Amino acid sequence: MANPLEGKTVLLGVTGSIAAYKAADLASKLTQAGAKVDTILTENATQFVAPLTFRSLTHRPVVTNLFDLESEEAIEHVALAQRADILVVAPATAHTLAKLALGLADDALTTAAIATAAPLMVAPAMDAHMWEHPSVQEHIATLTARGAHVAGPASGRLASGLIGHGRMLEPEALVGHIKLVLAQSGDLNGRKIVVTAGGTQEPIDPVRVVTNHSTGKMGYAIAEAARDRGADVILVTATTNIVTPINVTSINVTSVAEMRTAVLDSCVGADALVMAAAVSDYRPTQVAEQKIKKNGQDGGMTLEMVKNPDFFVEVPAGVLRIGFAAETENLLDNARAKVDSKALSLIVANDVTKEGSGFGTDTNQVTLIDAAGEAEELPLLSKYEVGHRILDRIVELLK
Ligand code: PMT
Repeated sequence: MANPLEGKTVLLGVTGSIAAYKAADLASKLTQAGAKVDTILTENATQFVAPLTFRSLTHRPVVTNLFDLESEEAIEHVALAQRADILVVAPATAHTLAKLALGLADDALTTAAIATAAPLMVAPAMDAHMWEHPSVQEHIATLTARGAHVAGPASGRLASGLIGHGRMLEPEALVGHIKLVLAQSGDLNGRKIVVTAGGTQEPIDPVRVVTNHSTGKMGYAIAEAARDRGADVILVTATTNIVTPINVTSINVTSVAEMRTAVLDSCVGADALVMAAAVSDYRPTQVAEQKIKKNGQDGGMTLEMVKNPDFFVEVPAGVLRIGFAAETENLLDNARAKVDSKALSLIVANDVTKEGSGFGTDTNQVTLIDAAGEAEELPLLSKYEVGHRILDRIVELLK
């Protein structure tokens, strides 16, 4: 299984809020991610955005008026509801939330909400005082108790000009929430996966470190892919510039010693550990207490290093161990040697000298090697897609 949006039908309900313009971006992002997006706009929503905007972005049905007998889609609004994999109401006004909670069905959107068996996600958008009003909170509580997923709202600048709680989540974050809801039927639902990411840093003195070029992109992509398949994900991450994906628990570490503690603690009760981090094999024997000063004009400097423990071997039995091998030569031989020495179920052999592969890239070209030494060379793929290929193997190994 790949991206949870691929081939899924999202029924997008847009209601009358200034945040409706963001729903167009959401429809575009979902379509680009492979989803089929059918849209229902309430009459009030059409005051803010045009149906044509959604039709142009999604090339799919857009319903505005339940009683428009000229419109085939309006007549088929129940069919739209029945083929949906998820109903997303974004933005969701206080008025529509109330109707959804009470089961009122007086327009195409609220009728579809009653007619569909798909999970419901709402993205509230309103003034902060409205959001705090007991009636809104009671309707939210009713919807939550019924299994609806409430995404947001966030704090920030509101249409009134005031700063407060009530802003609709940004489309990118909403895509994450939608994937999360769809992932509940994923093949890693109920599994716990620990992933490491980034390059560890070993201090030399208070201002200098020994590190490597890892940006964390590979590990974060695996964590996101595992999340999208329903897993509980713990991401043990060295310093990166990447935002933690929603619903992924991240533990920040710096050195190998910190990563070792975090990984071993996180592995309790875990099903699999995927070590995508670039872990420093050596650290300075001594860490200077003060900044090391330049030694004369031409003087060199020798740094004595000691080996770091390879903590893969300390991971409790019963946790699948998936390693990475970042190599610049003899890729397969070096990777196979690591499968044996680290007792791995699978290793991801990564020639970091290849174009589009390795450190900092959005793509990677890797070879998967199993415990028996069998190799499968994958094409150049996005790191997210590589993550899914690794997870496909984990799903098989866990059977
Ligand atoms: O983060 P990006 O910029 O996206 O780059 C991705 C990547 C190139 C870092 C990634 O794809 C990758 O190859 N990661 C593994 C890099 C690495 O450390 O390989 P290694 O061959 O040195 O180590 C082999 C395995 O042993 C790794 O899974 C490593 O995490 C683990 N190890 C290493 C040393 C150590 N002391 N303890 C370990 O457990």
